[in-house]
Amino acid sequence: MDSIKINKLEIENVKRIKAVKIEPSRDGLTIVGGNNNQGKTSVLDSIAWALGGEKYRPSQAVREGSVIPPNLKVVMSNGLVVERKGKNSSLKVTDPDGNKSGQQLLNEFVEQLALDLPKFMESSGKEKAQTLLKIIGVGDQLSCLETKEKELSSHRRTIGQIADQKKKFADEQAYYPDVPDELVSPSELIRKQQEILARNGENQRKRDRLNEITAGKRRIFDDMNRIDDQIADLQARKDRMKQEYDQAVSDEETAKKTVAELQDESTAELEASIADIEEINRKVRANLDKEKAEDDARQYLEQYASLTKQIEDARQAKKDLLVNADLPLPELSVKDGELVYKGQMWDNMSGSDRLKVSTAIVRKLNPKCGFVLLDKLEQMDMQTLNEFGKWLHQEGLQAIATRVSVGDECSIIIEDGYVKGQEHPAEDVQEAPKTPSWKVGKF
Ligand SMILES: Nc1ncnc2c1ncn2[C@@H]1O[C@H](COP(=O)(O)OP(=O)(O)OP(=O)(O)O)[C@@H](O)[C@H]1O
Ligand SMILES: [Mg+2]
Repeated sequence: MDSIKINKLEIENVKRIKAVKIEPSRDGLTIVGGNNNQGKTSVLDSIAWALGGEKYRPSQAVREGSVIPPNLKVVMSNGLVVERKGKNSSLKVTDPDGNKSGQQLLNEFVEQLALDLPKFMESSGKEKAQTLLKIIGVGDQLSCLETKEKELSSHRRTIGQIADQKKKFADEQAYYPDVPDELVSPSELIRKQQEILARNGENQRKRDRLNEITAGKRRIFDDMNRIDDQIADLQARKDRMKQEYDQAVSDEETAKKTVAELQDESTAELEASIADIEEINRKVRANLDKEKAEDDARQYLEQYASLTKQIEDARQAKKDLLVNADLPLPELSVKDGELVYKGQMWDNMSGSDRLKVSTAIVRKLNPKCGFVLLDKLEQMDMQTLNEFGKWLHQEGLQAIATRVSVGDECSIIIEDGYVKGQEHPAEDVQEAPKTPSWKVGKF
């Protein structure tokens, strides 16, 4: 379906307007020119009121000094006739078959922002970007990606901080290159020590035995001395004892030899080793701690790199989303939630670029709406105006604009509430002239 345009416009006694008839160009720019305070903006206000509904009713709609109430008539390209007249300026919408209709039907093809472009232009950068994203149908996906990217970035920041701390901690740990890789167990050494102690105990018993034998020998010798006195009586006993004595001497020799061969093993080395173990293990534990800390730091670094990759992916997905989207203007995009045109953010765009961007976006908001109202087009120079007109043509868009100028670029000039050159009806007379000379747009 073709988008709907304004074919004809008749306004009487609205604000500054006395009587104005305009037949705007179907496509491109229709410039309503004139000096200040002549009623240019009143023309746009009247259109907004006629098509937009009660909320666009001017605070002082009826022209001061007029005894006749406002009279508005807009003929749309789909044949609808929209009128406001009578004491209450009530709305009357008539379709080509003569059926009556109302505001609801108008709302289907009248884009609110097309009537009130400044409302769009004054919205925040984020709101403008949201509007654009809504139009191209990627708003939800993009905000999803942005949320994801933010979460990933915040997570990565935390991980990065931890990675730094862990690395620092690992670097600060002491390292001992000259100890075994694993903790040393003292139990083996203790077992060896106990074996030696057991053997030494056995030796001690043998020494004790020698001492006992020596003591026995001494007792026998004493007895012999005593028995010497009784030798005669006890000769036989003495002989036996002599044998015993000899035997004892021989035993003593044997025992002496055995004892002479005995050699005690030293446990000093083991004791030293046991003492060392604690120190060694302290170092081994330190080395293990350092390895663990380094491993920790490495893992966080890896996690950081993985998050970086994910953030890049999310950013790329955002770019792809916008690259593949059907944008209303070439070089118009969204970056970091802000509108960007030709690489510039809104606050850095020229006035004419802002108008162009706004018009393009509003045009896409409701494709059924084929017109847009633009106040104060002074900021466009002739070349920009020409280019803008061409672009509007291309888009099949009708723009009704005002401009403080009485130059050739203007389609009509408003002067004291009338269209210059147009026949005036008698003041305060409601009837329109019979043969109007409506001018049409030049762009
Ligand atoms: N109901 C009204 N009756 C008579 N004059 C009115 C009424 N409402 C506003 N005006 C006057 O109309 C003038 C503004 O009209 P309008 O805004 O249409 O002019 P303009 O041509 O757009 O001017 P500018 O070039 O300064 O934007 C003001 O002087 C204002 O006081
Ligand atoms: Mg104005």
